[in-house]
Amino acid sequence: MTRLIEPVRTAPLATAPGRAGSRVAWTFVLLTALAVGAYSAVPYFTVSLRELAGDDVGLAPTYAETSPFVQAALYVHIAGSAVALVLGALQFWRGLRTRAPKVHRWLGRIYLAGVAVGAVGGLIIAPSSPAGYVGFFGFSALAVLWLATAWRAYRAIRRRDIAGHQAWMIRNYALTYAGVMLRVWLPLLLLAPLLLGLPWEFDEAFANAYAAVPFLCWLPNLVFAEWLIRRRGLPSYRLPLARA
Ligand code: HEM
Repeated sequence: MTRLIEPVRTAPLATAPGRAGSRVAWTFVLLTALAVGAYSAVPYFTVSLRELAGDDVGLAPTYAETSPFVQAALYVHIAGSAVALVLGALQFWRGLRTRAPKVHRWLGRIYLAGVAVGAVGGLIIAPSSPAGYVGFFGFSALAVLWLATAWRAYRAIRRRDIAGHQAWMIRNYALTYAGVMLRVWLPLLLLAPLLLGLPWEFDEAFANAYAAVPFLCWLPNLVFAEWLIRRRGLPSYRLPLARA
């Protein structure tokens, strides 16, 4: 059978400035994960969906009109994804992995459960997206890839393939980080026409911006993840056709 993963040999990045840069990047990822978890997820667990809808918070107006099943899936999705977003960032902390490997293993199991629950919830709510078909396909593809990369990361570590596990976890967390990037892209795209001096009306600008984010929130993350994987000398992804 053709192997999809091939080790790519690159120079090891063990220099001090490289490590300092990684620490800064990791701190940034952790803080943004905490901020998005608190800012976007917490309101859903402190105030009812109806009240949030009345205050026009996030997508609450859309989901206040859906069935109780879809609303339950939304809550399950937000809880699982928020847990994954915060725990996932902690899992990349080298100190935790080396000093407390048992904690890393347990947080890893909770992280994977968060991904599974968040992805299944995401698949159920995707057809209700205000972005229509783009929302359905973009978020569903994200959920499927989220599950698939988590499964590959889990299988790799069960085989004691540490490099493979790290590479799949980088891809998987890049997808988890879509939760942050969506909330970075949306205001940028919303305000872009203003910055370009174009006519601007909120509803139209929001609809335009929201039509882009179901794919934009994760596709560039995956490209960045693959670059990072190669830079670290971890097994990079090869399409079977490219190998042939
Ligand atoms: C990575 C895989 C993820 C998938 C497949 C996914 C999928 C979805 C979908 C389909 C929606 C509804 C969007 C719409 O109706 O247009 C949604 C909303 C939401 N998601 Fe996710 N999501 C993911 C990650 C995350 C993460 C990591 C968080 C962390 C906090 C998160 C928190 C939320 C929240 C709070 C909402 C409600 C929308 C709002 O009011 O801003 N999601 N997600």
